[in-house]
Amino acid sequence: MNDGFLIAPSILSADFANLQREVEAVEKAGADWIHVDVMDGHFVPNLTIGAPVVKCLRPVTPLPLDVHLMIEEPERYIEDFARAGSDYLTIHVESTNQVESTLRGIRDLGVKPGITLRPSTEVEALEAFLPLVDLVLIMTVNPGFGGQKFMADQVKKITWVRNKLTELGSSALIEVDGGVTEETAKELRQADVLVAGSFVFGASGSYGSAIEKLKQAKFEN
Ligand code: DX5
Ligand code: ZN
Repeated sequence: MNDGFLIAPSILSADFANLQREVEAVEKAGADWIHVDVMDGHFVPNLTIGAPVVKCLRPVTPLPLDVHLMIEEPERYIEDFARAGSDYLTIHVESTNQVESTLRGIRDLGVKPGITLRPSTEVEALEAFLPLVDLVLIMTVNPGFGGQKFMADQVKKITWVRNKLTELGSSALIEVDGGVTEETAKELRQADVLVAGSFVFGASGSYGSAIEKLKQAKFEN
């Protein structure tokens, strides 16, 4: 058994014309979760996909669907994403003034709630919500696009969250998203789950070797 990082390939960097094939390929290659980036062109300057795509992916894979909502007023859409078959629904702390009720609403819908923040937001903004979540996502790029450079100055947020979760006796997982590579992953040892878009789907070798390198980075340096 491998005790390395859990790996969540982001389908943002996959071939959208062959999404089923891509998801099946990363599953076979050892992926643990499938990360789905939802963008609305308002909260972030890019548009991607919505709940219908999650619904189509649901029967394609048994892996948890880890849905990252980069949208304003996510409370308007959580029911759609829950019904579509999301396992984790992560909202941005900056995206609504109803963070607490939205997180509670996600749980009431039978989905695991997650909270995240932009790199420019102080990590303390998450504190009040930590008792309500199963996942804390630390962004190491500005949300909006795949293939950006890893922001090393965000790593200290992981330590802060880890300490707070320990104080709370919470078993919530810590996930990191943005610019994750075999090299940057070595700085993320305190995290549990790594999202990787371009490092997996843009790999020059096989998806399997990219995923294995990321998992093993937990034990390096
Ligand atoms: C960025 C997204 C990421 C993105 C990561 O807004 O949240 O999930 O797909 O892509 P890479 O791994 O290429 O930085
Ligand atoms: Zn993401």
